[in-house]
Amino acid sequence: MSDPGGSPFRVDILTIFPDMVRNAANCSIIGRAISAGRLDLRVHDLRDWTTDRHRHTDDSPFGGGAGMVMLPGPLFAAIDAIREADETVLVLLTAPDGERFDQAMARELSGLRRFVLVCGHYEGLDERVRERMITREVSIGDYVLTGGELAALVILDAATRLIPGVVGNAASIADETFSGEDGLLLEYPHYTRPAEYEGLLVPDILLSGHHARIVEWRRQQSLARTRARRPDLWAKFLPLSKADRKLIDAYDAEQSMNSASEAQAGD
Ligand code: 6GU
Repeated sequence: MSDPGGSPFRVDILTIFPDMVRNAANCSIIGRAISAGRLDLRVHDLRDWTTDRHRHTDDSPFGGGAGMVMLPGPLFAAIDAIREADETVLVLLTAPDGERFDQAMARELSGLRRFVLVCGHYEGLDERVRERMITREVSIGDYVLTGGELAALVILDAATRLIPGVVGNAASIADETFSGEDGLLLEYPHYTRPAEYEGLLVPDILLSGHHARIVEWRRQQSLARTRARRPDLWAKFLPLSKADRKLIDAYDAEQSMNSASEAQAGD
């Protein structure tokens, strides 16, 4: 295994579905990061730390109620073993009631030497595990998954692609939605060949070769898109700079010209 960037970034994932995590992680850019020695991914089967004959990882809740709760025994033993007595290792739990995962957290994780991801299941973990063994609880959005594996893979993917050298073009990371200078604007629309596809045209400006005007057009599209699709981000982005105010005013003027001429054509 080659090791181009010094010691690799290490992620341990603790799960009751190790095959699901391994299979997903071996594909695409994550798989390439592993083969290139940039990501040291270790997937652990929680059942390896069970002690009963049936290898149970859960039991019914004290106090009654629906669903099952993950047993403390296997989780305490597994996390202790995976940490290797290093108390400084960050242990994340995927949980729908955790703090919301975002690009800033992905960036933070990608800067660590290593971290552990524990995949939550059922109604949740015995609270004593959360109190003693878990550093941070993370949700990937306001919806409920059947288990934490897909959330763990999302977190792994978002953090791994920020490790230097994992994604080919560093500019493609610097430029994208949530990562730009301000981190609050959505991306502008992209086009590639052919310039005409079944009558559908690429905007002229992108074929013009006027680099400065293309940069302006893209900025204008980012502004208009963010305002239309993500009022929450737009509110944080305001107030506009003079230059951005000019761009969005020009956008609005063009839109109303277009709708006026469409209305006329419809008469
Ligand atoms: Cl981290 N786990 C589960 N089970 N559901 C979720 C989630 C996590 N994030 C959003 N929904």
